[in-house]
Amino acid sequence: MRTKVAIIGAGPAGLTLAKLLDLQGVDCIVFEQRSRDYVEQRTRAGILEQPTVDLMAEVGLVDRIHAEGIKHDGFYVTFDEATHHLDFNALVGGHATVYAQQELVKDLVSDRLANGLPLMFEADVTAIENRVDGASVTVRHEGRTFEVEADFVACCDGYHGVGRAAIPAESRTEIEQTYPVAWLGILARTTPVTPEGMYCAHENGLSVHSMRGARITRQYLQVPADTDLADWSDNRIWDELAVRSAGASADGLERGEIFDRSMAPLRSYVNETMQHRRVFLLGDAAHIVPPTGAKGLNLAVSDATVLAHGLAAHFLGNDRRWLDDYSATCLPRIWQAQLFSATLTATLHRLTDDPLQWRLNRARLQSWVTSEAQRRALGEVYLGLPFPVGWQYAAS
Ligand code: APR
Ligand code: PHB
Repeated sequence: MRTKVAIIGAGPAGLTLAKLLDLQGVDCIVFEQRSRDYVEQRTRAGILEQPTVDLMAEVGLVDRIHAEGIKHDGFYVTFDEATHHLDFNALVGGHATVYAQQELVKDLVSDRLANGLPLMFEADVTAIENRVDGASVTVRHEGRTFEVEADFVACCDGYHGVGRAAIPAESRTEIEQTYPVAWLGILARTTPVTPEGMYCAHENGLSVHSMRGARITRQYLQVPADTDLADWSDNRIWDELAVRSAGASADGLERGEIFDRSMAPLRSYVNETMQHRRVFLLGDAAHIVPPTGAKGLNLAVSDATVLAHGLAAHFLGNDRRWLDDYSATCLPRIWQAQLFSATLTATLHRLTDDPLQWRLNRARLQSWVTSEAQRRALGEVYLGLPFPVGWQYAAS
């Protein structure tokens, strides 16, 4: 088997890249180690930036986002028992759209399959050969193992995937920090406490009150990193969500059936070497943001846009410059998102008992409420900085 681009992973990064390549006539195959059902059900974050929604509109995949997504102007923040709305739309334009990541994955998967394009589930890439003049991947599928020759390999295989190892350790520049806390996340059949998402910066730690629909909430609690989920009964979760959200707008926190629960670690990570020879890293394979602010999916889509443009320039225009500059093109936007996520994380969580840090966080929260300039700066990144390049290659 041979293809121009072998794509490892059918998450937002891999599927978006496949769509953008298809629209430009560059053939690719997507290999996904999990089943279709698994990737379409996996619970993840779900806030789309405006540029992500705009891209899906450009490629004809926005109908369900418009029909089922929930458009928010900004978010609420509660501290010192008062709730404030930060309206970013009024200052910078655009929205944050609540649309679960697995819904976007469903849209991209069904589109690709409806178009008869290659996407293999339960196809595990076990090895990558990364040569100067080409590449190949070894795939295990239904008990068979086979090789696929490719001009390029796009590793969209997440933080634990095989992609990163295809770049020699001595060439990689990796920066990483893990936080001493995790997020305990739930999905519940309750009505959202506020019309848009709310962050509560409480002395017990952060609580996040988000939603997936009029009667489905997605809520998170900051917990110690070594927390055992089994120690958190439904009642304990609801009690703690109520304590942390005690404030003007949150008196009505409803309790109901919790039908999904999980733990997620908090980590900031960037591998600045996002390419080596024929291998490119995208999305979580190249960088992780802590979940505060929900940037992960959007960064994955942004990387896919840059690589699609670079591959199209190479194949259609015989122009290697964009591919050569892939990492350099992606990194400034990645670092802005890292800064935003780290700032939100540090400000909203209780990460130390240091009273100075607590007061400084209060002062920063206050500045978001009182200063239009601060709000504008926050809103620009929350609603989404422009993608570094358009996905479409146009010969100049
Ligand atoms: N072979 C084939 N597929 C693989 C392999 C492999 N060896 N290793 C991993 N995968 C698949 C995983 O099963 C997963 O479906 O790669 C996919 C990676 O998808 P995501 O984890 O969704 O990563 P990405 O597309 O970069 O999207 C980033 O995902 O982790 C969230 O919050 C994060 O929203 C962010 C988004
Ligand atoms: C979510 O809805 O999953 C969500 C909302 C806000 C965040 C992170 C995740 O900061």
